[in-house]
Amino acid sequence: MTNRRNFIKTSAGIVAASMVMPAYSFAPKRQVAANDRIRVGLIGCRNMGWGDLADMLLNPEVECIALCDVDTNILGNRAAELKKSHDRSLQIFHDYRRLLEIKDIDAVIIGSPDHWHCLQFVDACSAGKDVYVEKPIANSIAECEAMTRAAKRYKRIVSVGQQQRSGDHWHSMVKYIKSGMLGRIARADVWGNFRYGALSKAVPNEPVPEGVDYDMWLGPAPLSPFNKQRFHGSWRMFWSYGGGLMTDWGVHLLDMVLWGMNISRMPRRVTAIGGKFAYPENAPETFDTQQVIYELDDFIMTWSHTGGTETGPYGRNYGMAFKGTKGTLVADRENWEVFPEPSGGDNVEKVEPVKEFSDHKERHRHLADFVSCIKSRNPITACTIDHGSLSARYAHLGNIAARTQSMLVYDEDAQMFVNNPEADALLKPNYRSPWQFPVV
Ligand SMILES: NC(=O)c1ccc[n+]([C@@H]2O[C@H](COP(=O)([O-])OP(=O)(O)OC[C@H]3O[C@@H](n4cnc5c(N)ncnc54)[C@H](O)[C@@H]3O)[C@@H](O)[C@H]2O)c1
Repeated sequence: MTNRRNFIKTSAGIVAASMVMPAYSFAPKRQVAANDRIRVGLIGCRNMGWGDLADMLLNPEVECIALCDVDTNILGNRAAELKKSHDRSLQIFHDYRRLLEIKDIDAVIIGSPDHWHCLQFVDACSAGKDVYVEKPIANSIAECEAMTRAAKRYKRIVSVGQQQRSGDHWHSMVKYIKSGMLGRIARADVWGNFRYGALSKAVPNEPVPEGVDYDMWLGPAPLSPFNKQRFHGSWRMFWSYGGGLMTDWGVHLLDMVLWGMNISRMPRRVTAIGGKFAYPENAPETFDTQQVIYELDDFIMTWSHTGGTETGPYGRNYGMAFKGTKGTLVADRENWEVFPEPSGGDNVEKVEPVKEFSDHKERHRHLADFVSCIKSRNPITACTIDHGSLSARYAHLGNIAARTQSMLVYDEDAQMFVNNPEADALLKPNYRSPWQFPVV
């Protein structure tokens, strides 16, 4: 099962996520005329950013001319690895702003932790670069909104790392749902149960490891002592840097329901409950147990997770179920299948059981689509900033509702909640000086 393969052990314990393995081989490329080349820079080289670069470099017109990371150890290793198969000069940086000053760079990949995405994205757009930004596009709703404005204001080609949008079986699933074969769909349930969502034990603070620019790792996030539990990989379980399972997996999975159901607006209301109920003594701040209900006009979507477990409905530890009057469609990254309702009552026209499997080539296709959109200047990438923003804002709504234990109504025009100052306070992070929330 892909979901089982998707875990790696690090010194910080078992951590997320749909992770890529560092050992990529960057095959030598065919020759492409100089003026057809796309020169790319990577910001955040350890895990997913590195995998994204590998997939982007499978396109012969792409070359990487700069890498940036705040951890010299990672930067050095990645530069050495890239140079083995890439015979051109490579510039390396600690500070992404220096990388953005390189005029020759056409596009950047942002593979840093979530709390950095917004600043790096807006700066990249204003520097005239096209951007592939990892998901969730940001660590707050206000940042998602600022990034959407920046992409449009600076007219950049943007793609978001929600690669399921390029998955063949996800496409056929959405087509099936839109065909109406399932009858009326009034509800979809989405879940993500992963061990890494709860299980790491707290460890003491330590001196900052040699070669790490920790102040630049924290960036706009609050000052806090170095702790490896909050660092590489496992930062996603702490509110200042990430949103736990709700945003880590939620954006991928909720996105499929929003796509399938043609939803482009925020929900009417959101309610949630969550807490560190199963493993209260463990390190993560984000919740190990959470249930969210999103209400739309004639449709309900639910999200649930139980970090620390790996079982779930329909024998799948993560996935989704679209409940139609004629049948239920269940999907994950492996396949989707339809369970017909027993015939009778209103359901005389019975649907047939169907099952379709993934070809697991979505990541290659997703990056190839980004390259092709850069060349054609087509802003409608496989996952636009609007797609990425919508699913990230849904995920953040779920966390805010759980953290405030309240029923939320979000006013999209005013960009605040109705009568809920406690929830409003979680819409936008207070950036640590000298970093400033970008004005777009
Ligand atoms: N699309 C997917 O399936 C998928 C899977 C895994 C991760 N992700 C996303 O990719 C992003 C990175 O996650 P990860 O697992 O690779 O995290 P990671 O902690 O393994 O790697 C992040 C890298 O960014 C570097 N970094 C931190 N601050 C930086 C800065 N200011 N400038 C440059 N580099 C900086 C870190 O040193 C580290 O090397 C996250 O947004 C995550 O949600 C997406």
